[in-house]
Amino acid sequence: MTYTEAVQSRRTFAIISHPDAGKTTLTEKLLLFGGAIREAGSVKGKKTAKHAMSDWMDIEKQRGISVTSSVLEFQYDGYHVNILDTPGHEDFSEDTYRTLTAADSATMLIDAAKGVEAQTKKLFKVCKMRGIPIFTFMNKLDRQGRDPFELMEELENLLGIRSYPMGWPIGMGQSFSGVYDRHEKRLELYNPENPKEIDVIQLEGPDDPKLDEAINDPELVAQFREELELLDVAGDEFDLELVAKGELTPIFFGSAISSFGVQTFLEHFLKLSPAPTPRESSKGIIEPLTHKEFSGFIFKIQANMNPAHRDRIAFLRITSGKFERGMAVKHVRIGKNIKLSQPTQFLAQNRSIIDEAYAGDIIGLFDPGNFRIGDTLVEGDSFEFAEMPHFSPEFFSAITVKEALKHKSFEKGLHQLTEEGAIQLFKTFNRFNEQQIVGVVGVLQFEVLEHRLKHEYHVDIQLERLPFSLARWAEGPAEALEAFKKAQRNLVTDRDGRIVVLFENDFQMRTATEKYPDITFYENSFFRSTI
Ligand code: G4P
Repeated sequence: MTYTEAVQSRRTFAIISHPDAGKTTLTEKLLLFGGAIREAGSVKGKKTAKHAMSDWMDIEKQRGISVTSSVLEFQYDGYHVNILDTPGHEDFSEDTYRTLTAADSATMLIDAAKGVEAQTKKLFKVCKMRGIPIFTFMNKLDRQGRDPFELMEELENLLGIRSYPMGWPIGMGQSFSGVYDRHEKRLELYNPENPKEIDVIQLEGPDDPKLDEAINDPELVAQFREELELLDVAGDEFDLELVAKGELTPIFFGSAISSFGVQTFLEHFLKLSPAPTPRESSKGIIEPLTHKEFSGFIFKIQANMNPAHRDRIAFLRITSGKFERGMAVKHVRIGKNIKLSQPTQFLAQNRSIIDEAYAGDIIGLFDPGNFRIGDTLVEGDSFEFAEMPHFSPEFFSAITVKEALKHKSFEKGLHQLTEEGAIQLFKTFNRFNEQQIVGVVGVLQFEVLEHRLKHEYHVDIQLERLPFSLARWAEGPAEALEAFKKAQRNLVTDRDGRIVVLFENDFQMRTATEKYPDITFYENSFFRSTI
């Protein structure tokens, strides 16, 4: 396989959803199709006892949730697929957002009975900010859900994205009979008794009498034809360019638990989704097909996956070129050459050493403490990828060390955890009474922080919850910013000295935006997406 073929066969994506929409189920079915696992239940390792466990993962064990996230890969029909798993339950954290920066596209999984839910909305915003293609899978059609038109309307109203149904369901819940593929003019029949046996019928079109024969329910078929006509007349047209820009989402309907519609989704997705995409860097755009030297960036650091080694794993997204075990690359920020001798790739929690990988792939590097989120590694000429953004935390606590003598270890631990991206650290403005404030995206991170500082740095801390729920990076003309700094309360600085305002709620934030029209409030340190 040539370099170009290897890169073009890569598909790296993340599944974004709200807890319980069926992400684990869908992932598992995709892995089954790809032959990466042999039986259902393998992905749900979280429910079995065998599990790589470190001290702080005790929290995970106690709660039966997954604090770690992994990269799952499989081969299908000549494609090499990487699924970036995004932590989703109470362990929702900034890692979840950051993982999306390593994806070239996303699949938005929606429970058809519930529609767009809170967490999906947050993750969608990050995808939108990056302008990556977003595919939608409406799940659980075997149960009574909401009207598909209503779901499409919700995508437009709540998320501001237009949609194009690739297929259209015939019935739902009790009456769910199948899905018609609008592109292939193919009918997939749902058999509730044996959902895994899917009959596929090739039609001439929706008016084909074979449809009436296959679904013995004239009313249902009539309704389907009517809906499809409405879609053809009033719906958006399919436009791959808009899909590529993330402005139009192709919708698929199915039932992950029954594997229904999953393979159809996968096959369309692989054809329509992008191969590894170019990234911005200090040297301009790095295009994986033409820039054949190795480069990549660290998007996630995972601490202590193995209690015996107490090591960290830095996850690197390869942006261009080919990785070969043992190769020497430049760690641009510290200006040193390092040898990549022991990278690992992940299938669930099982580590295995890999020998080669290409643009689009994710590799895990053993990290004795050299890496920071956003670091660039390159072969050949030096450059750096655009900075990794910080996203607004939603929970805040003032943090202090219980024993003053432990101050040094405390600062070291905080520094380390900030570099890993587990927490964000802010400082208040008052020079005489400087206070440190920890911000996290998911509340569980506070427990992880307390636990890790205690067990890794032998420091006991005191956390005092603060009433804020939003952080906004503030920017504006120097004069306006000065006036703002004098008048506005609850100002802090982030790790890089940028000004951040903490708000208790949306209302407070809106009031400030009205009061200071010259100041722009950004919801991430990228200064891209505003309120
Ligand atoms: P998550 O990772 O997004 O949190 O969701 P997960 O796959 O764990 O699925 C959440 C629940 O929804 C599970 O039920 C799962 O079986 C169910 N589910 C997933 N896909 C479908 C579907 O297409 N149709 C229906 N009817 N249910 C679906 P559970 O009872 O919470 O767990 P379990 O005991 O079945 O594992």
